[in-house]
Amino acid sequence: MLKTSHISSKLGAEESFVYLARSLELKKKGVDVISFGIGQPDFQPPPHVIEYAKQAMDSGFNGYGPSLGMPELREAVSDFINEEYGVDVKPEEVAITAGAKAAIFIGMLALLEPGDEVIIPDPAYPLYESVARFIGANIIFLRLHRGNNYKIRYEDIERLVTNRTRMIVLNYPENPVGSTMDQRDVEALVDLAYKKNFVIVSDEIYDHFVYEGKHFSTLQTPYWRDVVYYVNGFSKTFGMTGWRLGYVVANRDLISKLSVIANNMYSCPVTFAQIAAAKALQDGLEWFKPILNQYRKRRDLIHRHLGSIKGVHVFKPEGAFYIFPDFTEIIKAKGLKDERELADRLLEEKGVVVLPGTAFSKDAGKGHLRFAFAVREEDIEKGIERIKSWLES
Ligand SMILES: Cc1ncc(COP(=O)(O)O)c(C=O)c1O
Repeated sequence: MLKTSHISSKLGAEESFVYLARSLELKKKGVDVISFGIGQPDFQPPPHVIEYAKQAMDSGFNGYGPSLGMPELREAVSDFINEEYGVDVKPEEVAITAGAKAAIFIGMLALLEPGDEVIIPDPAYPLYESVARFIGANIIFLRLHRGNNYKIRYEDIERLVTNRTRMIVLNYPENPVGSTMDQRDVEALVDLAYKKNFVIVSDEIYDHFVYEGKHFSTLQTPYWRDVVYYVNGFSKTFGMTGWRLGYVVANRDLISKLSVIANNMYSCPVTFAQIAAAKALQDGLEWFKPILNQYRKRRDLIHRHLGSIKGVHVFKPEGAFYIFPDFTEIIKAKGLKDERELADRLLEEKGVVVLPGTAFSKDAGKGHLRFAFAVREEDIEKGIERIKSWLES
């Protein structure tokens, strides 16, 4: 038997992929599965973007490219962000990565030392904690509360900052709770980071999935070049999860440091995908408007339906496409062990995929489930009906 390394055992796996595999297995057996599991948009990339990718392959973009990304895409990303947020990001301040996940991994690797303190929201996308543990950083959790609309708030962070704080991770709109951040909190936090000399890893991958108001980016603050490591990507807004394209914006010294790590890990992001993505950005996001309206309707629908289940407490998400209801009372009433048993039974007995809240937080996830509402309205209704009928059985 081959023995695996100690260092690899420090990494945690993202459980949504485990549930994805289980639901595919059930589908193969002919079960009519409704999946609120993995966070993947249910729309395809726009046809013109797929056409661009084919053309790029036909014109020979099938080889290696620069580790920090194709110049065409670095420039298109900076133009897109500048237009969107009225800022002046330069192409040299952009790196293209093999997904936002890789952007986060290489950024934390470039910035953190073992023993550094890193503040991570709780609950959160599990990658942040996994990579921080891998590096040996000291994790301080910033607990988010339903009573405060799960907001990441300046005052709560300030209380956790010490002289050893090296990094804070932000994610807004947030996975798994769907909260956004207020402009004043973002601004105050960037100021604090500047004064105290820590870095903000700001994962803004859901910036276009905002249902009320407009996203305020960390890049709109005056000191971003000193303190911000901004992460975004094509997976969510463009429905391009399988294309593995993400990007970073940061000061140019930091960007150039990323090159070596990226080079060791994956050489370069997929070249023809980058050429297509550059053109996609240049075409703008007019096509996305109806999608946002559709996702808002889904958000309203799933929130209403979950809220109508007696014993379920739920926050109405302001962004992203996740909802994080509290089923604690139901778990008790049904005599279940925990949210994991509930998620497993719903999958096996009703073909409904949901993720246990503890996939996102050991404590704050207890009794909770995460639903991704990247599914058609009729499937939302069908899925919740199945859950209700299981609860009544
Ligand atoms: C908050 C957050 N960041 C990053 C990612 C990863 O995105 P990518 O597919 O670009 O690696 C996800 C995917 O679910 C996410 O929810």
